[in-house]
Amino acid sequence: MQTFHTINGLRQALAAERAQGKRIGLVPTMGNLHEAHLELVRTALSSCDIVVTSIFVNALQFGLNEDWDRYPRTIEVDTHKLEDAGCHYLFHPSDSEMYPNGLDTQSRVICPTMTDMLCGASRPGHFEGVTTVVTKLFNIVQPDEAVFGLKDYQQLAVIRRMAEDLCMPVKITAAAIHREPDGLAMSSRNGYITAAERPVVNVLYNTLQEIANRINEGNQDFSALEGEGKKRIQAAGFRVDYLAICNSRTLEPAAIDDREITVLGALYTSAARLIDNVSLTLENRG
Ligand code: PAJ
Repeated sequence: MQTFHTINGLRQALAAERAQGKRIGLVPTMGNLHEAHLELVRTALSSCDIVVTSIFVNALQFGLNEDWDRYPRTIEVDTHKLEDAGCHYLFHPSDSEMYPNGLDTQSRVICPTMTDMLCGASRPGHFEGVTTVVTKLFNIVQPDEAVFGLKDYQQLAVIRRMAEDLCMPVKITAAAIHREPDGLAMSSRNGYITAAERPVVNVLYNTLQEIANRINEGNQDFSALEGEGKKRIQAAGFRVDYLAICNSRTLEPAAIDDREITVLGALYTSAARLIDNVSLTLENRG
């Protein structure tokens, strides 16, 4: 695997690959890689000749009081993991390489729907930072395909919408959520979970799954289901950010006749904010 810190270096290497007709896949990450990230790399390898993974802790998508400065940076271990997974190129730019004009005057990409709700409500500006950096990465790498995880369901929906709206010539592929044996979705932020919280924090996944099961069984009282779910998470000792039963495509509150439903939740542990979601498709009962 070759590592590039500059846009020009990476572009030259990729131009040579493209000239040979190679299909190029991109896996954008912020590093501190775990098994779920490596699954994204394997997914990209299954349909692309060349896979580029980017590691960049993007300040533009972090709020002022968020964890940008203490976000785990583990580039050496990450590099070995990517090598073992068969990744071809690592793009690891500096802040000044990505934002040479600084953050304040950086041109931005705005997706006007789905970005103020759910995670966007508690993280103002977050998705604008994501769409901007993902657009830059798409322009730098010009991938045929880019792989994102369903764990960040709203992020994936926003990126799909952006790519469609702006005619970006890239196939967006979704990869399933990778979980610990007890159901906790893998995340770089799981390192912030304390030993006391760890055995009970899977209450988030269990609650989302339970709500999905109840909907599958025919329960349509969505607001009651949301209310009960919040109580269950609170009873386990966590503050709920949101718990919402949504239309899978628009992320608006689900309507009674919606068939594709996603239940999304976010909670606060003492030092982290964790998110998860469960999707279901209802059979036509008509
Ligand atoms: P990061 O949190 O590092 O995640 C990188 C990719 O890994 C995202 O597509 C995310 O959905 C996926 N991922 C993380 N945990 C996962 C899990 N348990 N199962 C499946 N996929 C998982 O998301 C970002 O970085 C950034 O916002 C980024 C897109 C790189 C833009 O800066």
